[in-house]
Amino acid sequence: MVKVIGVIGSPRKNGNTAYLVEKALEAAKESGADVESLYLGNMKMEPCNACDICKLTGECPKDDDVNEILSKLQEAHGIIIGSPVYFGTVTAQLKILMDRSRPLRADFKLKDKVSGAITVGASRNGGQETTCSAIHNFMLIQDAVIVGDGAPLAHYGGAGAAGAAGDAQNDEYGIETSKNLGKRVTELAKKINNIN
Ligand SMILES: Cc1cc2nc3c(=O)[nH]c(=O)nc-3n(C[C@H](O)[C@H](O)[C@H](O)COP(=O)(O)O)c2cc1C
Repeated sequence: MVKVIGVIGSPRKNGNTAYLVEKALEAAKESGADVESLYLGNMKMEPCNACDICKLTGECPKDDDVNEILSKLQEAHGIIIGSPVYFGTVTAQLKILMDRSRPLRADFKLKDKVSGAITVGASRNGGQETTCSAIHNFMLIQDAVIVGDGAPLAHYGGAGAAGAAGDAQNDEYGIETSKNLGKRVTELAKKINNIN
């Protein structure tokens, strides 16, 4: 069975990112995926301190929750990464995960994972696309395959406009693009991995 993981990069457990990532995973499930969400807000994650040990050993010596998250990403066929817009880019929590994923890049363990982004900002044009782009850049550098939300809208992925926690429930466009992303990631992951 195809496996799709959703990463919730917000510190708010029941916030807008969580809501939209869950919508994407619902759609992934309807398309036949086994799904799991990972909420970064309660994980112990120290920033990379550039010791470069991962360049020698392929492993990070830090003993926190990041290695477990990296294992889960490797097991998945599809990866959906969600973040609120913080000053036009991703949260500090998600950036820590990105930097700490460097050991996976040694032999490109995320190669060909089908990946997509969901972002939500309080303003309609508050930086959703620049934040999507930051997530896409991460995926490119990990040699993953990027998709957007596919037809019929086919833009950058899930794009929400919501401020207070829970407001995303009224954001039809954010919900639609997130669901379409979940479907698109699942369908392409099945094709690439030859899974029905
Ligand atoms: C530190 C911080 C920076 C933010 N920067 C932006 C921003 O640049 N553009 C924007 O539209 N919203 C910004 N917001 C608002 C959040 O993106 C918005 O409330 C979002 O819905 C939060 O998602 P969450 O509920 O998943 O945490 C910011 C919020 C915080 C706390």
